[in-house]
Amino acid sequence: MSDKPRILIQLDTDAHPSVFDRVVAVDAGVEQLFSYGGVKPEHVQGLIHGAMFTRGPKDLHRTAVFVGGSDVSAGELVLAEVRKTLLPKWGLQVSVMLDSNGCNTTAAAAVRAASRHLNLQGVAALVLGGTGPVGQRVARLLALEGGDVRVGSRQAARSEAACETIRRRVPNALVSGVATGSGEELATALDGRSLVIAAGAAGAVLLPKQARSAAITVAIDLNAVPPLGIEGIEMGDKGKERDGTIGYGALGVGDAKMKIHKAAIAQLFARNDQVFDAEEIYEFAKSVS
Ligand SMILES: NC(=O)c1ccc[n+]([C@@H]2O[C@H](COP(=O)([O-])OP(=O)(O)OC[C@H]3O[C@@H](n4cnc5c(N)ncnc54)[C@H](OP(=O)(O)O)[C@@H]3O)[C@@H](O)[C@H]2O)c1
Repeated sequence: MSDKPRILIQLDTDAHPSVFDRVVAVDAGVEQLFSYGGVKPEHVQGLIHGAMFTRGPKDLHRTAVFVGGSDVSAGELVLAEVRKTLLPKWGLQVSVMLDSNGCNTTAAAAVRAASRHLNLQGVAALVLGGTGPVGQRVARLLALEGGDVRVGSRQAARSEAACETIRRRVPNALVSGVATGSGEELATALDGRSLVIAAGAAGAVLLPKQARSAAITVAIDLNAVPPLGIEGIEMGDKGKERDGTIGYGALGVGDAKMKIHKAAIAQLFARNDQVFDAEEIYEFAKSVS
């Protein structure tokens, strides 16, 4: 076994590499953390050459890459460039994980929470704030599980665009875009939905109490900044039943998110050929949460 220190190379698309991601890396057992901010696709080749031409193939599982930052689209471009630069044919590759804005680990934790109470195959779900980085991942994972997923947005065109992106990743996805901007639109979007996951912006109420439909069995809110996203679900709720609905708040999901994030980072060092994006992190989450 190699005893080289575990090095994590953090490629962050924001000017300042995320402190949150850095703390989690240290807590996950990373021994050396090289953090780069303001990373754009054109910077990637040089950075990855430094990672893969220094240690031989037998030690490259002790080097890994984490792509983060607040902009998931920018992170996706950086991830694509990392993959393009690696040379698997010669064993010159390192494992890489994308979790811009915590999108993949948070979505995995939320969908795992839902799966504890509902059979996700065919589940009638509504993702509020479904156009954001976290909401898109939540909708994608629910679609992957065979759910019938409505993707909510204040603007119908944005929700349709989000569905199109999901269909490209999950070919048979049963997803449809719905407008949720007005009370009437929200009521239509909620009709018959047994699962609601709110992934709206911090501090925005997406589901007021009076708009709740009786069909909702499980409601999960990911917003941790008051006012909360689903009125009547408390931040710390974790599978708590209130008025006939099982609820999770952001902190209730956050425990599992942290567990998945840390375990995924540790897992990066098991091999040098892994790519962790939404589906892989979700699959992995099944063994740890
Ligand atoms: N619990 C955890 O561990 C954890 C980890 C990471 C993130 N989070 C939380 O997860 C949530 C989603 O994160 P994100 O980065 O995907 O969020 P985001 O991009 O800031 O917002 C998601 C969506 O919310 C909608 N929105 C924005 N402002 C709104 C307003 N004033 N009223 C209603 N809707 C509004 C927008 O959709 P439209 O414009 O299309 O309507 C936007 O695409 C956030 O609350 C974040 O703090 C939690």
